[in-house]
Amino acid sequence: MAKYIIEQSGPLVGEVEISGSKNAVLPILAATVMANGICEINDAPNLKDVNVMCDILRSIGAKVEENWYSHTITVDSRNINSSELPYNLVKKMRASIFVMGPLLARMGKATIALPGGCAIGDRPIDLHTKGLKTLGARVIIDEGLVNASADRLKGALVYLDFPSVGATENIMMAASVAEGVTTIENAAEEPEIVDLASFLNKMGAKIKGAGTDTIRIEGVHNLLGARHSVIPDRIETATFMIGAAITRGDVLIKNSVPDHVRPIIAKLMEAGAVVNDEVDGLRVRGDVNRLVATDIKTLPYPGFPTDAQAMFMAFLATVDGTSHVIETVFENRFMHAAELCKMGANIRVDNRIATIPGNKEDLHGTSVISTDLRAGAALVLAGLVASGKTEVTNIYHIERGYENLVDKFRTLGAKIERVDD
Ligand code: EPZ
Repeated sequence: MAKYIIEQSGPLVGEVEISGSKNAVLPILAATVMANGICEINDAPNLKDVNVMCDILRSIGAKVEENWYSHTITVDSRNINSSELPYNLVKKMRASIFVMGPLLARMGKATIALPGGCAIGDRPIDLHTKGLKTLGARVIIDEGLVNASADRLKGALVYLDFPSVGATENIMMAASVAEGVTTIENAAEEPEIVDLASFLNKMGAKIKGAGTDTIRIEGVHNLLGARHSVIPDRIETATFMIGAAITRGDVLIKNSVPDHVRPIIAKLMEAGAVVNDEVDGLRVRGDVNRLVATDIKTLPYPGFPTDAQAMFMAFLATVDGTSHVIETVFENRFMHAAELCKMGANIRVDNRIATIPGNKEDLHGTSVISTDLRAGAALVLAGLVASGKTEVTNIYHIERGYENLVDKFRTLGAKIERVDD
């Protein structure tokens, strides 16, 4: 198994370019299932999850070309001929659930293995299935398989008990070709929802309100191929912003969208970092002021993103004073706290609240385990400032969601290398 070896690195300094958004490109690729034509997706990130999604599209008959020189994925979905997703691919990536709505809309049925839980939570799909049932689908879950079918989806009012990102996306895609109008209330408002709606509208869909809590979709008969450039990854942006702060560095983050990371900007500045929206990108400096404790509470967008919680906790372990982190989105997203404690952080977790008495001098290198994608990124950041050497294992989690992470950190002066056991 591969691992990262990280040495205490000093301040990160320089420029880094953000890749396309993992959480935007995955539903957009799923949406190509509904196109009666060829789609060209630009600025796609070369990630394991993206490669798996492309294999899923191929498994149902789409022709998919991945050009990682130009970061373009071309999907010809005119000859899709199957409504069943192969278990061996679905089990690799939870996001395969995004294909359920489009496949149901295209084929009138969809069979997919239950994605199951992961380290951060049970990850149920009840809001996905409830929404599709409201559109007239029959959904049966039996022996670990989800079987959805519908002669013709019909527009309806769908209220989401929780503003689930995936459920909003699945329902929005299926509703795009349903008969009549669908309104999704209490919808998720993430930028990835807006990017998906933008792509669907280029395909011929009629979607309004994406990015607000009420999305209105007027069903159309046919969706065509379209060209789209994916938004930058706001969580990768957050990773390098926090990397600049935790190392007391000075980093210019190019190809970032300040509007997508407002909570990170606000909280880093509360802690004493300096963040400037410059012509070439976001410049984050952790070397200007003494950095101090602050509290964060994760919430659906536009609140503080749960995906940046682990990395921010690593940062809070290095500042003066006691901070508190409240995780409200996932029920088990503090696995990284125990790993940070192995490095000398003195973090106490009580259900959804973590208390972090920070002190930069406490962190020391040791061997730690990446329990999920963002927890792994948090451990990399901690390793950059910990004394001695840090070994991060289970890095396949990290490499699912970050393109060229080692190269990007090295360009900024990080002492990090990837070794195979
Ligand atoms: C998306 O997951 C992201 N993944 C996650 O990013 C992100 O953490 C999450 O949204 C929240 O922002 C992708 O976009 C591929 P949810 P998703 O449905 O759609 C509960 C990363 O690190 N829920 O908004 O699965 C659920 O249990 C990943 O890139 C239900 O109860 O998230 C959770 O507590 C990790 N029933 C909460 O909602 C449902 O049917 C938020 O989940 C669906 C969700």
